[in-house]
Amino acid sequence: MLARRRVLLIVSGSVAAYKALELARLLGKAGAEVTGLLTGGGARFVTPHALQAITGRPLAADLWSLVEEGEGRGHIRLARTHDIVVVAPASADRIARMAAGFADDLAGAVLLAWDGPLLVAPAMNPTMWGHPATNANVATLLARGVTFVGPEEGPMAEAESGVGRLSEPPAILAAIERVLTDPTHGAPDAELEAALDAAIAGISGEDAAPRGGADRVTTRASSFSASSHPEAPHHLSGAEVHASSFSASWSSAAAVASHAVAGTASGALPLAGRHVIVTSGPTHEPLDPVRYIANRSSGKQGHAIAGALAALGARVTLVAGPVNVPDPQGVEVRHVETAREMLAAVEAALPADAAVMAAAVADWRPAEVATQKVKKGEGAAAPPLALVPNPDILATLSRHARRPRLVVGFAAETERVVEHACAKLARKGCDWIVANDVSGDVMGGDANAVHLVSAGGVEDWPRLPKGEVAARLADRVAEALR
Ligand code: C5P
Repeated sequence: MLARRRVLLIVSGSVAAYKALELARLLGKAGAEVTGLLTGGGARFVTPHALQAITGRPLAADLWSLVEEGEGRGHIRLARTHDIVVVAPASADRIARMAAGFADDLAGAVLLAWDGPLLVAPAMNPTMWGHPATNANVATLLARGVTFVGPEEGPMAEAESGVGRLSEPPAILAAIERVLTDPTHGAPDAELEAALDAAIAGISGEDAAPRGGADRVTTRASSFSASSHPEAPHHLSGAEVHASSFSASWSSAAAVASHAVAGTASGALPLAGRHVIVTSGPTHEPLDPVRYIANRSSGKQGHAIAGALAALGARVTLVAGPVNVPDPQGVEVRHVETAREMLAAVEAALPADAAVMAAAVADWRPAEVATQKVKKGEGAAAPPLALVPNPDILATLSRHARRPRLVVGFAAETERVVEHACAKLARKGCDWIVANDVSGDVMGGDANAVHLVSAGGVEDWPRLPKGEVAARLADRVAEALR
């Protein structure tokens, strides 16, 4: 399948650059003709001799080399004599340069002169990958139809872990094959569609269309490409491939909403550059070292909201009580146990543009916490349980000196839901209340019927999966912050 396909492999500066040698070997084994190109950073991790020996072809190395220009290996010639350009690993810096169109080194010049299939395999620290600047750059490339593979989640070189690892060479090889053989493979994930739509709308100055089917994205992507690039159909298919592989590897949480995937690829996404704090789950209020007061909150709704906001490009700090649901991808998570710890984590995360307080915070905590397990006395009465009020995080934040522009609270009610929510809006001083009736199976369940209560009135939303409630709410937050 790759026999005699000409691959230009650009290796940029990352500790993962050694994997590019294995990729070059696999490409050669598959019959591809590989030309290696080391950026300045790439050459600090991989030697030119190693890459040249593995590809078996002269390396492209220097924008200003008279020899290379003379031998027909100059940047324009390199950009005209390959079937695909692969940037693996692509560092944060290289992605930024690509997005901005820098051409001050050979890789930059070739990439600017290149108008064929382009596959990017990012590798960087998870915080760098999650940074709004990187999100914006990825979104720019996404809108241009660049295909991404990875990054993957896992341990990193700096003893950190998260999303940022270079995809393994066989996965990159498979992505190259897919791009070269079927550039329209796969259907974009629904969340990613919305994010891509918003990214393209933002870049082209259009308003994002409401959520819809795949046709809508194709149409919008098409109009963007047609108006901005002479090779619109090619680039359009690239965008779809990107959507698919990005979604698969990065954002299963796209129900992130993930980031979001689209997670998260955002820049031109509506919440790019915004910081949103989300609380989720219950709190546990200890009585003694083994007992605590808790509630039935699962964290499903709050976690889905965090993911959905990240999918729209926000930097999200999720302050999570003890839950059994996994951390959403592309979100910074602070795990806490008690209400007071939750308040401290929320305040530490300020400043923020918005806050969505979805946690079911315990209203009271035991006045005393025994240092040893409280023992049952033979025939003795049960010990008295004295409670004191917990701080109200939502009310505190709503009146905080560094109050986020938009503060959203939740109201879990079992009767007169909207009436109680309206009263709560005024009492807490927040901007919106998402009110839900928890008398049924909402707590721990997968669906939710909510009312969005604000000074402007009450909206009744139909019963929806929690992921869809999250996506709608994230859209509304984006609208409010626009
Ligand atoms: O007063 P109630 O618990 O019904 O209010 C619910 C809303 O207030 C939710 O948004 C919840 O996260 C928030 N809350 C809070 N701190 C508390 C109690 C509730 O932030 N101590």
